[in-house]
Amino acid sequence: MQVNLHDSWQIGPVEIPTRVVLAPMAGVSVQAFRRQGRRYGAGLVCSEMVSCAGIHYGNERTLGYLRIAGDERPLAVQIFGSVPALMARAAHMVEDAGADIVDVNFGCPVRKVTKTGAGATLLEQPDLACRIVDAVARAVAVPVTVKMRRGLGDGSRTCLSLGPRLVAAGAQSLTLHPRSARQMYTGTADHDLSAELVSLVDVPVVASGDVTSNARARTILEATGAAAVMVGRAAQGNPWALREIVGDGDGEPLRSDVAAELILFVREAVGELGERRAAGFLKKFYGWYLRGGRFPRPFVQELVQLGSTDEVVILELPISIYGGG
Ligand SMILES: Cc1cc2nc3c(=O)[nH]c(=O)nc-3n(C[C@H](O)[C@H](O)[C@H](O)COP(=O)(O)O)c2cc1C
Repeated sequence: MQVNLHDSWQIGPVEIPTRVVLAPMAGVSVQAFRRQGRRYGAGLVCSEMVSCAGIHYGNERTLGYLRIAGDERPLAVQIFGSVPALMARAAHMVEDAGADIVDVNFGCPVRKVTKTGAGATLLEQPDLACRIVDAVARAVAVPVTVKMRRGLGDGSRTCLSLGPRLVAAGAQSLTLHPRSARQMYTGTADHDLSAELVSLVDVPVVASGDVTSNARARTILEATGAAAVMVGRAAQGNPWALREIVGDGDGEPLRSDVAAELILFVREAVGELGERRAAGFLKKFYGWYLRGGRFPRPFVQELVQLGSTDEVVILELPISIYGGG
C-alpha cells in the first residue's frame, strides 16, 4: 500500500491533516515546541504529560501546562495518574482548557511516576487501566486516547492483550511505543508489535519509536497499517526533520535558517515560561539546534554559558547569521 503522509485522518471527529504526530516529551513539549511542530508539518501535537494530582490541586506550574493557543491545534493534552476519579476530573479541566483530545499515559517508565502506580505500571494492572479509561471517557466529550509501551519487561506482549480492552473501555486511538519500560530508550522499537496491534483493534493506531526519516516513516506505515507515525527525539531542535518526514524538503536547513528559528523559539519560550525558567529550559536546545556540524562546537558551549536569553538573541545568534562564525 502506497502511503502519502499528507493524507488526513481522524480520531473520532477530530480531523488531523497529516500522518505525522509530534510526540509528548516531558521537559520538551512546551507550547513553543508544539507550535513549531505544527508549522513544520505535524498534523497533531501533544503536551508533555501533566499530573492529574497537580491539576486537581491547582498547582500553578501544572496549570501552566494547560495554556493552549489556537495555532497549535489540533492538540492532545496528556495526563497521568492512577486514580480513576482524579483522572476524570483532570480530563474535564483539560477539555475546558481547549484540548481537542485527552491522552492517557500508560507508558512512562520513570521511577518518580511508576512508584505512584501511574505510567507504565498500569500495563500490569489491566482492570484499573480500563477503569481509568472508562472514567475519563465518560467525563469528556472530546476523544480519549492512550499511549503505551509494549509492557514492563523485555519481550513483553502485554500491549496486545490490553489494547483491545482499552478500546472497549472507550479509547478512540492507541499510540504504541514498542519498547518495554525496562528498556527505556535502548535497543530498537519493535514495530512488528505495532502491526499486530493494528490487526487487533478497529481504531487508528499511531506507531512511535525511531522514526527519523520519510523513508522510515513510510516503511513503518506500510508494514504496520498504522494510521500515523509519531516523531519524538528526531524533532528536538530539528523541525526540519519533521518537514522531511512528512515528505517536504531534504531536512537540511541553511545555517541562517537554524539561527532564525532558534531566535524565534527562544523568544516564544521566554514569553511562555518567563526568563528564569526559560533560560534553564533552553540550554539543552542550543546543543540540539546547533548539532551535526551546523555550528562550531565552541559556539554551542558559549551559548550554554550565557546568563540571559537576551544575550543569546541579541548578541550571539545575529553574529552567526550576519557575520563572524
Ligand atoms: C525527553 C523525553 C521525554 C518524554 N516524555 C514523554 C511523556 O511525557 N509522555 C509520553 O507518553 N512519552 C514520553 N516520551 C516518549 C516519546 O513520546 C516517544 O514515545 C519515544 O521517545 C520514542 O519515540 P522517538 O524514537 O521518536 O523518540 C518521552 C521521550 C523523551 C526522549
